[in-house]
Amino acid sequence: MNIDGKDYTSIWREPSHPNAVVVIDQRKLPFVFEKRVLSNSHMVFQSIQEMWVRGAPLIGVTGAYGIYFGCLEMMHEHKGQEYLVSVSNKLLSARPTAVNLKYGIEKVIEAVNKFGIRKGVTEAALNAADRLREKEINRSSRIADHGVSLLRQIYQKTGKPVNVLTHCNAGWLACIDYGTALAPVYKAHEQGIPVHVYVDETRPRNQGARLTAWELATYGIPYTIIADNTGGFLMIKKMVDIVIVGSDVMSINGDIVNKIGTYLKALAAKDNDVPFYAALPLSTIKRDMNDVFNEVEIEERSSNEIRYIEGWNGHNIESLRITPKTSNVLNYGFDITPSRLITGIITDAGILDAKKDAILKILNQSY
Ligand code: MRU
Repeated sequence: MNIDGKDYTSIWREPSHPNAVVVIDQRKLPFVFEKRVLSNSHMVFQSIQEMWVRGAPLIGVTGAYGIYFGCLEMMHEHKGQEYLVSVSNKLLSARPTAVNLKYGIEKVIEAVNKFGIRKGVTEAALNAADRLREKEINRSSRIADHGVSLLRQIYQKTGKPVNVLTHCNAGWLACIDYGTALAPVYKAHEQGIPVHVYVDETRPRNQGARLTAWELATYGIPYTIIADNTGGFLMIKKMVDIVIVGSDVMSINGDIVNKIGTYLKALAAKDNDVPFYAALPLSTIKRDMNDVFNEVEIEERSSNEIRYIEGWNGHNIESLRITPKTSNVLNYGFDITPSRLITGIITDAGILDAKKDAILKILNQSY
């Protein structure tokens, strides 16, 4: 994506840092655009856990580079392959919900296992991480190609700008480029289909108000930020044509796990006959997950994310307490939306029904 005349992705390598990767520190957006260089597996862990990087596909690719750093460390410090097992476990613990982290780590471990510990293993790991990065870019681009057809159909029917409601940030920052939920929106804009996005602010970290709004603003797409509880009322007032969200995990039955608050949007959409789509790459499907309600680990994050709110004071990012000092708080990062509330799944391999048969068929064709 283009920022101030320069093309960016959310993670890249550059010649000035040959054994490192560069990411955008998403904790500082939209106030400060700051790059961070990650050069060892501990920094990768920290960047994922503290959410310098976030979003399912991006943490998958960042984790993949984390294993590459693990290989470098293993070779330099003459450690055995058990070192990579400990790096993998540590990285996995950074964000337990999104399946892409496991997927990214496994892709690089597979390449390493094929190679064995000998000269060249670090190159094999780096190539595997680079390949995954490219693949996720292609996947997002295909999600855009498939998803735009839904927006075009709505525009052809109404002749008015298409009002999309989205939750959290499932744009290029969360992926490597384009995004998942926002990918069809970018494509529609490029193709001259007028779109307008209602952006849920997405408490407690405000990924919508901060990141999605910033992405749409830099791309010149009209948007309106709404408080998280507003979506249902907009749907009653027929102000939303379609809801598109991302996902951190989808079970083989088509149930999705996404940022906390997604389920309530799906309920409101069902009650108002508004189509509700989840956009996700095939790498987000956990094919061995049948019963998402019992099998997924829903991340519980720090209570301070609820107690405090961050903002810009004109000079710095500042954090202010917004609750009584001793309040109990509960901070689940994600919720589960059952497939019965989902109109369809926009994937890189096409638009599917949120049903086991359709999902299995596409997985068997694509892997
Ligand atoms: O906690 P985050 O910011 O990593 O959560 C991100 C989301 O919930 C996105 O919707 C999700 O990763 C799917 S799409 C990239």
